[in-house]
Amino acid sequence: MRLLSLHSGMKLALIFLFLGAIQSNALKLNLTDSKGTTCLYAEWEMNFTVTYETTNQTNKTINIAVPDKVTHNGSSCGDDQNGAKIMIQIGSAVSWTVNFTKNASYYLIENIVFSYNTNDSTTFPGAVAKGVLIVKDTEKFQVPLDVIFKCNSVLTFNLAPVVQRYWGIHLQAFVQNGTVSKNEKVCEKDQILTTLAPVIHTTTTLPSTTTKLTPTSTPIPSPPVGNYSITNGNTTCLLATMGLQLNITEEKVPFIFNIDPATTNFTGSCHPQTAQLRLNNSQIKYLEFIFAVKNEKRFYLKEVNVNMYLANGSAINISNNNLSFWDAPLGSSYMCNKEQVLAVSRTFQINTFNLKVQPFNVTKGEYSTAQECSLDDDTILIPIIVGAGLSGLIIVIVIAYLIGRRKTYAGYQTL
Ligand SMILES: *[C@@H]1O[C@H](CO)[C@@H](O)[C@H](O)[C@H]1NC(C)=O
Ligand SMILES: *[C@@H]1O[C@H](CO)[C@@H](O)[C@H](O)[C@H]1NC(C)=O
Ligand SMILES: *[C@@H]1O[C@H](CO)[C@@H](O)[C@H](O)[C@H]1NC(C)=O
Ligand SMILES: *[C@@H]1O[C@H](CO)[C@@H](O)[C@H](O)[C@H]1NC(C)=O
Ligand SMILES: *[C@@H]1O[C@H](CO)[C@@H](O)[C@H](O)[C@H]1NC(C)=O
Ligand SMILES: *[C@@H]1O[C@H](CO)[C@@H](O)[C@H](O)[C@H]1NC(C)=O
Ligand SMILES: *[C@@H]1O[C@H](CO)[C@@H](O)[C@H](O)[C@H]1NC(C)=O
Ligand SMILES: *[C@@H]1O[C@H](CO)[C@@H](O)[C@H](O)[C@H]1NC(C)=O
Ligand SMILES: *[C@@H]1O[C@H](CO)[C@@H](O)[C@H](O)[C@H]1NC(C)=O
Repeated sequence: MRLLSLHSGMKLALIFLFLGAIQSNALKLNLTDSKGTTCLYAEWEMNFTVTYETTNQTNKTINIAVPDKVTHNGSSCGDDQNGAKIMIQIGSAVSWTVNFTKNASYYLIENIVFSYNTNDSTTFPGAVAKGVLIVKDTEKFQVPLDVIFKCNSVLTFNLAPVVQRYWGIHLQAFVQNGTVSKNEKVCEKDQILTTLAPVIHTTTTLPSTTTKLTPTSTPIPSPPVGNYSITNGNTTCLLATMGLQLNITEEKVPFIFNIDPATTNFTGSCHPQTAQLRLNNSQIKYLEFIFAVKNEKRFYLKEVNVNMYLANGSAINISNNNLSFWDAPLGSSYMCNKEQVLAVSRTFQINTFNLKVQPFNVTKGEYSTAQECSLDDDTILIPIIVGAGLSGLIIVIVIAYLIGRRKTYAGYQTL
């Protein structure tokens, strides 16, 4: 048990910190305030894979498992002015921190920073001494106040040259009245696993305000729609709006992954005959869409390349450059509001939602007239057929009338 003095204008002048018993693998942290009431509760597991440069010009990769004995110097519960944080020291060469900030209704788990000292030759044998290097995650998790965040699945953040893996997370910052909440927010990955392979929830009876857990198959949530645009100089040359869901069936249970545009970066390029859109986030090293022109008249999606990490930490690398999706005339855009399935390989498909894309001939940064996919067509097809039928009928009547009139007229003349 240790004593820390913190500046806090309010109730707490002193905050006691103590580290709860660390179990063999899980890290467990129970920070308490001066009255001994819990103000931050965390239980989780993590490990890291670090690749570093060695003095003989080769790269070396090591795994860092988190040992039983770690210190958490600098961790604090925060108060009305300051956010909370957890700081973990793993040996003398590695440290790890996470910050928590709150507002009136929720708190954010953010700014995960992993730092490692390459001068430490015990941890990094043969390393070029580059001093302390830092890897910072952009991932954020938003959790309502008085709710515990849970994630049993492995979350993998690959920020070269460090791969971070977290699992078995039970975490609540800004604990109210010293009681860890029974209301939980379950991470997206656990929800998907629950959907596909129903898991028995160990939640005890919850207060009436919590969201209900539907026991039977809850539908997989649709992915959020993202806007992606690529510029060439100052002019927009490629536009894409779409919700993307990846379906990987390498394992018995398909792994469904919704791409969150908020945490996804994108780049790309435009050329006369090809255009490229490349997405990337902590889990996806790259997901590339490559468009091509055919017969100088139409464009289509020709190629998809993906390199991403699976839940178990292994990577997939799949390419197909012989596709033929999203075919439309140059100078127009391609649109498909219904869910569309792009089979890239036997084990990898992309489900698109509310798709609109224009990889060539974008003018004024706006989409041109859209060619809509046949999936969307059924609603407008019937009025067109009825309309076409009706106008056809009218034309027939008019022609018949005109012919009739001419005949009568001609008849009178001859008589
Ligand atoms: C790191 O964690 C992952 C996920 O639980 C596990 O598969 C892997 O074996 C671990 N690696 C090490 C070196 O402990
Ligand atoms: C943590 O704090 C304790 C006591 O203040 C100190 O002895 C120890 O060296 C610190 N550990 C690290 C890794 O800074
Ligand atoms: C985390 O919070 C501490 C103090 O609250 C701040 O000094 C630090 O800059 C924050 N870290 C990041 C990465 O934002
Ligand atoms: C380079 O250094 C690493 C780490 O010291 C060692 O394992 C490896 O065998 C060395 N390779 C060569 C070619 O010397
Ligand atoms: C904490 O205690 C205060 C005062 O007793 C009460 O108003 C508030 O609802 C409690 N909050 C929770 C989350 O139990
Ligand atoms: C995407 O762009 C369209 C058109 O500019 C806009 O209406 C829509 O709100 C945008 N969506 C997002 C998620 O930013
Ligand atoms: C994922 O792919 C598998 C195999 O192609 C298919 O059976 C399953 O319905 C797909 N799931 C979704 C949500 O697209
Ligand atoms: C992860 O899963 C894939 C697909 O089932 C498998 O090929 C790979 O060997 C697994 N990797 C690990 C480290 O378990
Ligand atoms: C992925 O596959 C592509 C082409 O098949 C290859 O060029 C690339 O080197 C591979 N990347 C990795 C990391 O294996």
